[in-house]
Amino acid sequence: MSKDRQKQQAAKAAADYVAANLEAGAILGVGTGSTVNLFIDTLMPLKEKLGGAVASSEATRQRLVNHGIPILDLNDIDRLAIYVDGADEIDHDFAMIKGGGGALTREKIIACASDTFVCIADAGKRVKRLGRFPLPVEVIPMASRLVAGQLAAMGGKPVLREGFVTDNGNFILDVADLAIHDSQALEADINQITGVVCNGLFAKRGADILLLGAENGVMTYLSSGATLRR
Ligand code: A5P
Repeated sequence: MSKDRQKQQAAKAAADYVAANLEAGAILGVGTGSTVNLFIDTLMPLKEKLGGAVASSEATRQRLVNHGIPILDLNDIDRLAIYVDGADEIDHDFAMIKGGGGALTREKIIACASDTFVCIADAGKRVKRLGRFPLPVEVIPMASRLVAGQLAAMGGKPVLREGFVTDNGNFILDVADLAIHDSQALEADINQITGVVCNGLFAKRGADILLLGAENGVMTYLSSGATLRR
């Protein structure tokens, strides 16, 4: 099955999950990326059920608006029950690398504000160990060189993402070759570097449910404590 078809199936499974698990009128958190775009495109039948959505990027906000789904500000909401987003890599402990689309900071904020993080991805995203995908790090523009030096001292090979500015007006360093043995510790260490806004390790707050498009359909993986109503 093609990667696109796998993404499509994972997106459809997420829409089914939302239909079964989100209360009528509740607000949905929506991530960013090609898999999430497919998910948004399957939301039409749920439009009446949704109270609206909180978007993790301008691109997602625009796509939701085009589908007639109302957008809310996270500051107007206590908590979100469900957040649906993709990943660049996800390991067997549900820790992820995210930010390939550059929306990592808003994605992490919404993930933190959500009770259940549903990750949707194609089979190629599930890995034994994180780190093949270069880790995106959002930095304050004036600090990009300073931060790159510190990341290099940690063993990484940071490259400034050419011509890219995040929705928050910042730059992204894509850091290859980091040895990710303890993803939670590394996430915290990188956040400590002055000039870093956020990094793409989602380990402290990983996913709760993984809906993985695979050769023979969608595989569902639950982290300990996660429940699934179909
Ligand atoms: C966006 O910033 C990322 O975190 C995406 O969630 C990630 O890159 C997955 O994107 P695809 O669904 O396009 O693979």
